Amino acid sequence: THAKFCHKMSFPHLSEVLKILDGALRSNASMSSNYAGLLADKLEQEGEREIARRIRERLARAPAAVAYAQDAGGMAGGLPVDSESRLDTLDISTPAKGSVHLFLPGGTAKRVEEFLQSVRHYDRLREARAAMPLRMLLYGAPGTGKTQAARWIASELGLPLLTARCDTLISSLLGQTSKNLRRIFDYIEQRPCVLFLDEFDALASARGNERDIGELQRVVIALLQNIDALSDNTVLLAASNHEKMLDPAVWRRFPFQLPLPLPDTALRHQMWQNMLGEFAPEALDWQLLSTKSAGASGALIEQVSLDTKRHAVFAGSAHIDEEELFRRLSLSLALADGHALATLSDEIRWLRNWDTKIFSLRELARLYNVSTRQINHYLQDDHGNAGKPTRKRKAQP
Ligand SMILES: Nc1ncnc2c1ncn2[C@@H]1O[C@H](COP(=O)(O)OP(=O)(O)O)[C@@H](O)[C@H]1O
Ligand SMILES: [Mg+2]
Repeated sequence: THAKFCHKMSFPHLSEVLKILDGALRSNASMSSNYAGLLADKLEQEGEREIARRIRERLARAPAAVAYAQDAGGMAGGLPVDSESRLDTLDISTPAKGSVHLFLPGGTAKRVEEFLQSVRHYDRLREARAAMPLRMLLYGAPGTGKTQAARWIASELGLPLLTARCDTLISSLLGQTSKNLRRIFDYIEQRPCVLFLDEFDALASARGNERDIGELQRVVIALLQNIDALSDNTVLLAASNHEKMLDPAVWRRFPFQLPLPLPDTALRHQMWQNMLGEFAPEALDWQLLSTKSAGASGALIEQVSLDTKRHAVFAGSAHIDEEELFRRLSLSLALADGHALATLSDEIRWLRNWDTKIFSLRELARLYNVSTRQINHYLQDDHGNAGKPTRKRKAQP
């Protein structure tokens, strides 16, 4: 152990020691004790049991208020609250390791792993002058797993996830001083955690919004300034659905960038297997399912799986009905693509167009619990609008 201290690094765990010192200098006992607890954990993982034990012993002797904050996972002591609405501006969760499933293509998974390594070995990297601020921007279409990835990262690091939604944050800050914002950033600097700014594009749209432009810009600038004032080893994640709306001032602040694509066939296969689980019938055609779900996001696959499983439970069946699964998948894809399919006739014609083999007349008759003659009747009904996009049509007054 002595060699490790002398040669590898001139001062290991400098980050934690400095945070403990910061806490002491600010008379912030819970900050000091939170970071001392983290230091003990790290030392223990490295085999330094005795030192870890001695630190924890000190912590156990702390005054009652501090001990209480620790018992609550360091999260007591009042969440920052919007002074006007009294609503929490931060949401706290502590996802347990192994409880979050994340499916990513190989290259993307590797980038996440590199980020985790940079967090874990931050001091070593800084020593080698190879450290970058621990900030990652996750971007991609809705439902591709950005929030899920944030949960996964927090669970892997064993840190609480503190989520602030930028849209609510900004509106709660309008017409107020930047005190709310300061409170949030003070709060998160006091404990080891992952700060997650969700719906980050709210910043970008705020910049382009004409109404209240001065006010909004002040808020946005204040937020960016608070990000700049974070210490480089605070783990910050931000997620955006509209990366094109983010300006260079935002990109510059995130040395790690993670594009999240829609899942490919192989990944969809994994997702279906994971999400259907025991409910999948033995003969399920996984290949067909994975192919036919092209264009689906992880969120869509999850939703269709849940709906179909619920259907099975209500039907008193241990397995899902494969054709019912395809039916729900097809209808969800239609909806995601902007087809409203308002009538039964629309639905049935859509399904028939989508795949005549899966949706034979007999199968459709079974699924909709009508005669094949009735199905034929639906198919010939030309009052519906199956297949035509309905998204752009104006609503009737
Ligand atoms: N890549 C993925 N891996 C695992 N689950 C996913 C993935 N993408 C989406 N999901 C599922 O869909 C749901 C919604 O995903 P979410 O992370 O909220 O999407 P986003 O934040 O990108 O809009 C999640 O709860 C998760 O169960
Ligand atoms: Mg999200």
